[in-house]
Amino acid sequence: MAIKPDLTTKFCGCELENPFLLSSAPPTCTGEMIQRAFKEGWGGAVTKTIKPDKTPVYDLKNRFGIMGLEDKQLVLFENIEEVSKRPVGTWIKEIKEIKKNFPDKLLIGSLMAEPKEEDWETLARTVSEAGVDMLELNLGCPHGMPERGMGAFCGQRPDLIEKLTKAAKKTSSVPVMVKLTPNVADIALMAKTAQDAGADATSAINTVLGLIGVDINTFEPKPTVDGKSTFGGMSGPAVKPIGMRCVAQIAQATNIPVSGIGGISTWKDAVEYLLIGAANVQVCTAVMWRGYRIVGDLVDGLANYLSDKGFKSVTEIQGKTLPKITAWSKLNKDYKVVASINKEKCIKCGVCFIDCNDAGYQAIKFEPNSNKAAEVDEEKCDACSLCTIACPVPGCISWKRVQ
Ligand SMILES: Cc1cc2nc3c(=O)[nH]c(=O)nc-3n(C[C@H](O)[C@H](O)[C@H](O)COP(=O)(O)O)c2cc1C
Repeated sequence: MAIKPDLTTKFCGCELENPFLLSSAPPTCTGEMIQRAFKEGWGGAVTKTIKPDKTPVYDLKNRFGIMGLEDKQLVLFENIEEVSKRPVGTWIKEIKEIKKNFPDKLLIGSLMAEPKEEDWETLARTVSEAGVDMLELNLGCPHGMPERGMGAFCGQRPDLIEKLTKAAKKTSSVPVMVKLTPNVADIALMAKTAQDAGADATSAINTVLGLIGVDINTFEPKPTVDGKSTFGGMSGPAVKPIGMRCVAQIAQATNIPVSGIGGISTWKDAVEYLLIGAANVQVCTAVMWRGYRIVGDLVDGLANYLSDKGFKSVTEIQGKTLPKITAWSKLNKDYKVVASINKEKCIKCGVCFIDCNDAGYQAIKFEPNSNKAAEVDEEKCDACSLCTIACPVPGCISWKRVQ
């Protein structure tokens, strides 16, 4: 019988029973919700972002939008929601309650304040002393808050990342993680700045700034708030490549752990993040879509994957792919393959021919209505891969190494 792999990991000295955390978002809006999620099996949770009581917060009606549903799976989600409206005192009470009932789960307090050192010092002291295991500084929210000098306004400026990380570190009694925004030119620089300022870990990504769509009948942008909208934060499966790129860049540039976030909805997504160097993963949109219960599939899927591959623990796969992510200039320019079409599998649809003819290298021979399979002219094939991606039959077009 296969041995059950060990899913526990360490994160800034804290023990995690599995690498799945709820990120700071609607699923972590209250202590009651977090406790319910813990019962379902989440290894940890980051509270919805807590702000000083003097900072006003508005929940617009409405504040969500979506783009694309594929096989009933959500592709992209937008929100223009702000941080937690709830008073600090309420959170303190609930943090104590959560830790009393679930002492072994990782509870992280997410914080945001104006870029004034004293505000961050007070908030970091208060929330850390309430009993959380770690703090996460939200320097990444890209809507609403930046207009008021908070969130991504701070995460887009190295001087503020440094100042606010130092302020939180000064008074926090627990490790401090800095949550970064992908809406910057160089996220590695921002992560390095956080590390140099004393951060114990980073997390990425917060949402990607975008505009989800326009109602072409009413001419109103979405999500519409009394006829108008604003740029919002994108999340869900479509942001995964951006999250993965950011996490890999951060893992390459720093030597503190990075918690991976962005578009994770299956155990495979989580494995990919772990392989590129994430210490653990955080999930939001997938839980908003399907509930806390998805953690069962995440845990089982990861455990089965590890035992199928012969790994004894999750730590064995962490960062395994990272050394293979390199600069474009370091890729092998002499490596040469050509496309090869399996005559038996070809359904003579002509998709590969059209794509290669109109956007490739005119390397595919195909006669419509001839009942002959498409064929590759190896001399002309430049192995761009368009035909293999476009072909509707799995395994019909493969690669043949020629050099
Ligand atoms: C509706 C909504 C509210 C969010 N609120 C917060 C927040 O209060 N603090 C925070 O740090 N991130 C917030 N986020 C960002 C998520 O924590 C996460 O970084 C992002 O959604 C990407 O992960 P995902 O693709 O799994 O959703 C919010 C996201 C959504 C969709």
